[in-house]
Amino acid sequence: MTRVAGMTVAVAGLGPMGRGIARVFDRAGARVVVCDVSPEATEAGLALIRREAEADGEKATVEAGTLRSALREATLFVEAVVENMEAKAALLAEVRAHGRDDLVVASNTSSLSVGEMGKAFGDPSRVIGLHFFNPPTKMRLVEVIKAAATADEVHENALGIVRELGKTPVTCADSPNFVVNRVCRPLYYEAQLLVMQGLEPAVVDAVARGALGHRMGPLELLDFTGLHTHLASSETAHREFGDPRYRPIPLVRGLVRNGMTGRAAGRGFYDYAVEPPRDGRGRVTRAAGPAPEGVSLNVTGPHAAALRGHPAVARHLAGDAPLVVFSCHRAPTPEDVEQVRELGRRARVVVDGSDAAWRDLLPADTGWVRLHAWREEVFAEVVEDPEAGVAVPDDTYALLDLLGAAGVRVLALPGLVADRLADCLANEAYAVVEEGTARPEDVDLALRLAMNHPEGPFAYVRRAGPVTVASRLRSLLAEIGDSRYRPTQLMRRQVSAETRRA
Ligand SMILES: NC(=O)c1ccc[n+]([C@@H]2O[C@H](COP(=O)([O-])OP(=O)(O)OC[C@H]3O[C@@H](n4cnc5c(N)ncnc54)[C@H](O)[C@@H]3O)[C@@H](O)[C@H]2O)c1
Repeated sequence: MTRVAGMTVAVAGLGPMGRGIARVFDRAGARVVVCDVSPEATEAGLALIRREAEADGEKATVEAGTLRSALREATLFVEAVVENMEAKAALLAEVRAHGRDDLVVASNTSSLSVGEMGKAFGDPSRVIGLHFFNPPTKMRLVEVIKAAATADEVHENALGIVRELGKTPVTCADSPNFVVNRVCRPLYYEAQLLVMQGLEPAVVDAVARGALGHRMGPLELLDFTGLHTHLASSETAHREFGDPRYRPIPLVRGLVRNGMTGRAAGRGFYDYAVEPPRDGRGRVTRAAGPAPEGVSLNVTGPHAAALRGHPAVARHLAGDAPLVVFSCHRAPTPEDVEQVRELGRRARVVVDGSDAAWRDLLPADTGWVRLHAWREEVFAEVVEDPEAGVAVPDDTYALLDLLGAAGVRVLALPGLVADRLADCLANEAYAVVEEGTARPEDVDLALRLAMNHPEGPFAYVRRAGPVTVASRLRSLLAEIGDSRYRPTQLMRRQVSAETRRA
């Protein structure tokens, strides 16, 4: 087993990734020799490494070299040069000529084929992907990409090295975008489609944070990363997979063409001079008011059990309460709709669901929300859509105050916001597993570590139930008619299993 302490590592490319990777190996006790395109660029990169280490209260002992001198004793070569196959291939041919016979090559590419780099190097068995996240000094996840010809021993060793660096490795196959960037693609696409269908970016982001517990909303995250980068990776995914579900959304193309590439440009989905994401979020979020006195509540419907068990709900429950929540998170059946009508004859009713069918079937004077009650705080999407004839009766806000739930108003769009984002992300995670790119537990771990999502997509589907998630995806497919919403066969098979058990 390779020990990082004492090994010599050569790192080429001193952009933010190469600099961070050099420091991570340096910290773990490796001898690190770095190089960039010229002695001047290498010295400048090294100076930055030292400064960045100092800012973190560390001392870097990284050395500067040339490609040849760096390779003289190295047993591991990490390339973090520009994301361009021609540049990487030319570099790797040179590395083969000057490196030791047992040199292992690791690429930090985020989208290019590791197998193709293996061919360029001339011995694909010794080439592997080590995809660090930005900044490498802080992010714990490393995707370890085992290409078709990568030797098992090289892979095993790489896992050991990543662990010795204090990081968590997740193995995946050499498939475009690997795991995290691939699984999150639909999150970004759906967020943009929601904006194209009439929602404000701040609404989408506020719901992603409040309902799904994401650290950043998808649109503020895209603005942060740069919309040009996202557009380029969408084009790559579209080309590589040949599936129309990866096609870029016209909205982002338009923004990029106009130079509105995100936060660094001052304008993207948000106009940073007018209203940055935090202010937008504050504006669209209604905080809970004081809980009304003496109000009780009943919860019924196919998904009542989970809601009834939440402490914020449980303490207000009473069998004959004048306010009833009908909780139905899948597509409603005619019986569900009849039950809501029936309840409406003797109580005020608020439907808790996201299915577009309610847009046509919701009885007059009935409230429509989607309550997210899986974490400590309840969060509500509140449907208000004059265009669709959906208003918010007063009881709806009384309900939110009773539960201490913050709320965001959304349009009556299929799946509303949170279910649509989470279901589509989960469906992509299923595709990644179905095709053998990664294992479900690794996908969940990767999303938690790299994206800070409170739960991975497989844990999410277990909690929501495959039948419910697949039913919502089918509603999106029927309503919007885009094949991107087709549930994967793996999810469909789990639905069959659940249905047969029931
Ligand atoms: N930036 C990110 O968030 C991120 C995250 C994960 C992975 N990556 C990947 O990591 C790699 C580097 O990313 P970055 O953002 O640091 O890149 P960057 O473009 O900022 O920096 C690349 C550096 O490589 C140098 N370089 C180019 N050709 C070289 C050569 N032949 N030999 C030595 N140095 C050379 C350039 O002078 C530059 O300093 C890319 O493959 C990228 O896709 C980037």
